[in-house]
Amino acid sequence: MVWSVNRGTQIKLIVLSSLIVILVIYNRLIYSSHSYTPSIALSPKAITGQNLWQRNNCWSCHQIYGLGGYLGPDLTNIYSNPNKGPDYISTFLNSGVQSMPVYNFSNSEKEAIIEYLKAIDQSGVYPNKESVIEATGWVKIKYKDE
Ligand code: HEC
Repeated sequence: MVWSVNRGTQIKLIVLSSLIVILVIYNRLIYSSHSYTPSIALSPKAITGQNLWQRNNCWSCHQIYGLGGYLGPDLTNIYSNPNKGPDYISTFLNSGVQSMPVYNFSNSEKEAIIEYLKAIDQSGVYPNKESVIEATGWVKIKYKDE
């Protein structure tokens, strides 16, 4: 059968198909553009630290990027905090204060947890005050190493 649509319908079809093409191109541009999420590859030591973190329920009291329990403080950037840092974390782990239990981590276990918190710290800043909503709808976040 031959096309038997009138002029008005033809124009509507052309407009509709152009919109579809524009939508497809727009989507491709958005989803194939540079991703702002840095890829994080944990070292084997940091993975050991992450396992210790999970097995010892650090989550139940601490947050990373604001997620977790709320009895203790957020630990996202404790590693690079000028008043805290690795030695401070190390001391905290086996001393236990107030409502934080005393752990008996070996030196290598402490190092692994610190390595994990270091990797977390390098992945971004929390709370993140430097973020802007771009015209594309993406939220641009300023990472520490930018
Ligand atoms: C039962 C709750 C609880 C658990 C479980 C817990 N903590 Fe804590 N932690 C706390 C509290 C409460 C504080 C704050 C104590 C204070 O400042 O006096 C704290 C403080 C800390 C600090 C110092 C934070 C700062 O900014 O001064 C570090 C580091 C820390 N915890 C690491 C850990 C790690 C690692 C684990 C898991 C191995 C863990 N905690 C498990 C409750 C907990």
